[in-house]
Amino acid sequence: MDLSKDPEQIRGLFSCIAPVYDQMNRLFSWGLDGSWRRRVVDLLELAGHEEVLDICCGTGELTFALAKRLNKGGSVVGIDFTREMLVRAKEKARRNNYQKICSFRLADALNLPFANGSFDVVTNAFGVRNLSDPKTGLQEMYRVLRPKGKFACLELSQPENRWFLGLYRRYFAGLLPLIGYVILKQRGPYDYLPASVWNFQNKAGFSALIGQCGFQNVQVHSLWGGTVAIFLAGKPGSG
Ligand SMILES: C[S@@+](CC[C@H](N)C(=O)[O-])C[C@H]1O[C@@H](n2cnc3c(N)ncnc32)[C@H](O)[C@@H]1O
Repeated sequence: MDLSKDPEQIRGLFSCIAPVYDQMNRLFSWGLDGSWRRRVVDLLELAGHEEVLDICCGTGELTFALAKRLNKGGSVVGIDFTREMLVRAKEKARRNNYQKICSFRLADALNLPFANGSFDVVTNAFGVRNLSDPKTGLQEMYRVLRPKGKFACLELSQPENRWFLGLYRRYFAGLLPLIGYVILKQRGPYDYLPASVWNFQNKAGFSALIGQCGFQNVQVHSLWGGTVAIFLAGKPGSG
């Protein structure tokens, strides 16, 4: 499995799965992925007027969960570098009347087209793991965040319990690629998913990386036996 995370390959992979992306997420998370995104929004304790940036927004699932809480003039911009994912996000925004609060833009998370300190909150769900250079991505998120701004990242992770890890690996690295193959009729995307999780940093390592990029008060909220984690942090008041 090639895990060089070449941006062209990553974009190709997500354009290929865009038509089934939401359904596959529902299936593989046992219908829980929406609740994980809602948990991110709960933990952010939004006042409702914030300007939010959702990085690697894909089909907009976290973007819309955020938009539901922005009732006092707030707004959320979703960015992604895969056009096919954004087409779905825009279509959903139109269908659900989110166009006033949400906007979507084709952009690279490693070179964000926004000035320093443009947003009160920066989020991403299942995005950083897919970046060719996660550190540069985190540094960009830090740059566009206002002083005292909030950062939240939802990611897949590995369970710490050895017994559960064994069981989980069987499902995630064994069964899941097989189901993906049956549905998509090709191996790549759902072989990449478990491989990208095994090769990504563990919770402690990723928390340390977030801290190295300047964020402070890094917290980790572990969900579903550690298979999913929410990382929260803030930008210092003067930075
Ligand atoms: C697993 S999807 C996550 C989508 C969405 N956030 C969600 O909650 O379902 C990862 C997304 O990251 C995007 N992505 C990967 N590298 C990127 C980059 N350098 N810049 C912008 N988007 C990127 C992909 O196009 C894909 O849509």
